[in-house]
Amino acid sequence: MTADTLVPPRTPQGKASVRRKGPNLEQWGWVFMRVSGVLLIVLIFGHLFVNLMVGEGISALDFAFVAGKFSTPFWQVWDVLMLWLAFIHGTNGMRTIVNDYVTNAKVRRVLVTSLWVVAGFMIILGTLVVFTFDPCIPNLSNGSVVAEVCRAQG
Ligand code: HEM
Repeated sequence: MTADTLVPPRTPQGKASVRRKGPNLEQWGWVFMRVSGVLLIVLIFGHLFVNLMVGEGISALDFAFVAGKFSTPFWQVWDVLMLWLAFIHGTNGMRTIVNDYVTNAKVRRVLVTSLWVVAGFMIILGTLVVFTFDPCIPNLSNGSVVAEVCRAQG
């Protein structure tokens, strides 16, 4: 077989290709990409539809609009699901690309580890923002709807 001939996909390629015992994480990763892809279609297009098309559409987007959504458990869960799935899906996809193209094992390990560290950090930070968001910050401009709601709440 010449160097430019593709080997059949299931041909064993040395030690790395020998199937170890335990759950097949590569296979579960593959299933996750499909399932999260379907869920992301619903979450992302639902998000875009509600934010940009319902009611006054894009012209209604402001601080009060976001504050209103973050005070509703339904949208908190929606946004956090979108955040988690998009980050895990995107990171796992990038891991696949790195594994496909980076031939140096050390570089590959550094890149894949960095991907998961950044994703983990962003997921924790984003989840904290969604669940601890407080719209009643000092210096809210008088007359704004948010300022009035905050004053009414004391
Ligand atoms: C509309 C929602 C989405 C759908 C339906 C979707 C679907 C998919 C599917 C089925 C795969 C696997 C492809 C394969 O194994 O050959 C994939 C890969 C990937 N996705 Fe998504 N995805 C969506 C959103 C996203 C988002 C928001 C990101 C980034 C945050 C993203 C980043 C990636 C990356 C980097 C890959 C790897 C590509 C590769 O292996 O060459 N996707 N996507």
